[in-house]
Amino acid sequence: MRVTILGAGAIAHAHAQAIQGLARHEGLEDVELTHVVDIDADRAAELAARYSVPHHGTDLRELLDDGAADVLHVCTPPSLHLAQATAALRAGVHVVVEKPAVLSLAEVDALAAAEQEAAAGARFTQVVQHRFGAGALRLRRLLADGTLGRPLVATCDTLWFRTPQYFEVPWRGRFDTEGGGPTMGHGIHQFDLLCSVLGPWVEVRAMAGRLAREVDTEDVSMAIVRFASGAMASITNSLLSPRETSVLRFDTEGATVELEHLYGYDDSSWTVTPARGREDVAERWAAEAAGVRDGGPSGHLAQLVPTYRALAAGQTPPVTVGDARGTLELAAAIYKSAFSGAPVAAGDITPGDPFYVSMGGGGAPWPPVKQVPAVEVAR
Ligand SMILES: NC(=O)c1ccc[n+]([C@@H]2O[C@H](COP(=O)([O-])OP(=O)(O)OC[C@H]3O[C@@H](n4cnc5c(N)ncnc54)[C@H](O)[C@@H]3O)[C@@H](O)[C@H]2O)c1
Repeated sequence: MRVTILGAGAIAHAHAQAIQGLARHEGLEDVELTHVVDIDADRAAELAARYSVPHHGTDLRELLDDGAADVLHVCTPPSLHLAQATAALRAGVHVVVEKPAVLSLAEVDALAAAEQEAAAGARFTQVVQHRFGAGALRLRRLLADGTLGRPLVATCDTLWFRTPQYFEVPWRGRFDTEGGGPTMGHGIHQFDLLCSVLGPWVEVRAMAGRLAREVDTEDVSMAIVRFASGAMASITNSLLSPRETSVLRFDTEGATVELEHLYGYDDSSWTVTPARGREDVAERWAAEAAGVRDGGPSGHLAQLVPTYRALAAGQTPPVTVGDARGTLELAAAIYKSAFSGAPVAAGDITPGDPFYVSMGGGGAPWPPVKQVPAVEVAR
């Protein structure tokens, strides 16, 4: 399989390393990174030189017309993803699209239609690398087989820090180009993993604020979510938190399972505290972690191995456009609830709703901040 990276910026390095790592895996020996394309010719040339990629250029259309790619990794700013992924699917080229796949529910529905109509059975998948570390695979397995019992309570905190300079990149911090703030651009990694563990959500109540950065999106959001299973979770997405961390905690009938990391995890990032009398859960977790059954750390390679195996076999990759839509719908519901001040249920945001076409609700005004009377402090 001949692979092209489109967009030779920051995340392209993770793709180049992972794609070149695929050939060491059984059945994927023929995967080869052959092209780098970027509108900035120097960037394309630099990335190609660094990873010894034989071809580089500036024109996606030319690459597709030449039939020079079997798989296209879309690593450009999010507002370009829909048009570029659609062009590739029409040309019969599989697409691996960086998160967020697209900017809105309207765009993800257009993408789903493009995949349905794709030439030569070309498939879409989205990068959500935290679904694929060994710990996440094990957690989903021990929930599915009943070992952990029902999930009841969860917390999902993305507490990151971005300086004002970070937002000088022109596409960042804007609804029309990045899709949103930390909800769409940063916390989405963690709450995508939350959704992959807890299943469909049914109701969201949220608040968002723009407290400290010159952006047109939020710089913090908080939500509480009820899942179809009955489980309840809180979600915080912040870019204002000097001690950075990413924390997920699941309280199930059998144990508390916690993950703490920053941008990626391995088995040492997980802890399991069994419920009284359920020491078997911790023993089972430890035994499986010590075995060879699971893969390794989270990351692009962990996702690309099963993805390329599926593509090579003509099967559906493990992350589908439906999965991408589920997480984007949760993001849209967080924004709609934050802007409207009202709860939002799954399925509420349909064509005709301003939050269907934009996470910002097409310029919805920020809700007024209620003035809380100052509390007198006795001295
Ligand atoms: N999975 C992750 O952990 C992760 C981490 C960081 C970024 N991302 C995502 O990756 C994507 C890219 O982010 P980044 O930080 O690498 O951005 P970046 O700005 O560093 O790089 C984007 C590149 O795209 C190029 N580009 C712009 N327009 C183009 C066009 N029309 N055709 C070809 N190339 C074009 C730019 O010249 C630039 O080199 C975003 O969707 C971002 O959210 C994912």
